[in-house]
Amino acid sequence: MMEKALPKIVFATNNSHKLEEAQALAAGYFEILSLSDIDCHDDIPETADTLVGNALIKARWVKGRYGYDCFADDTGLIVDCLGGAPGVYSARYAGPQCDAKANMKLLLKNMEGMTDRKARFVTEIALILGREEHLFSGSVEGTIATEPHGTAGFGYDPVFVPEETGVAFAEMSADDKNAISHRGRAMRKLIRFLLSSTNSH
Ligand code: IMP
Repeated sequence: MMEKALPKIVFATNNSHKLEEAQALAAGYFEILSLSDIDCHDDIPETADTLVGNALIKARWVKGRYGYDCFADDTGLIVDCLGGAPGVYSARYAGPQCDAKANMKLLLKNMEGMTDRKARFVTEIALILGREEHLFSGSVEGTIATEPHGTAGFGYDPVFVPEETGVAFAEMSADDKNAISHRGRAMRKLIRFLLSSTNSH
């Protein structure tokens, strides 16, 4: 018997880690295409000063120029004792050309001696289906460790310790991270919505 093709949706990202997380969550429901799958190699500007604003810029860029229904995410790490920084600037915290290691190093330096290490990851997802735009969010509470732990995941994963597990995201399996993470929570809302809207058409 021929297997039924899954509905397809574009995830407006070039981040292979984010793509893998989303593909694992959507497995069996949707086929998630990346920007390179639709031959989009643009460096999409992220110039808004909110996570929702940046997610909308990315999704509207892909829908407007390539015509595909799509979703985009923007994520920020919000640290209480730093007044909410790095927040929407999490990707560029140590400077425009910086990498994850430099960002984490600066974060740990700026938090030296701080006892209140409470933080949260927040993901905002913007979905464009035809002419409609929808937003989904997810967050996870935790603390910032005093040094990096583990090698899995990406970005700030070695220094973020979610409340639920007490070990850094980078010490957890991909499935365990997805079960409680900011992006996992936002993605499950998105998938539920997509399933209800594809079933009702
Ligand atoms: P953006 O959503 O790609 O703009 O991500 C903002 C910053 O947060 C980047 O430095 C990412 O590496 C980091 N980031 C996004 N999602 C995660 C995550 O799930 N774990 C750790 N860092 C993340």
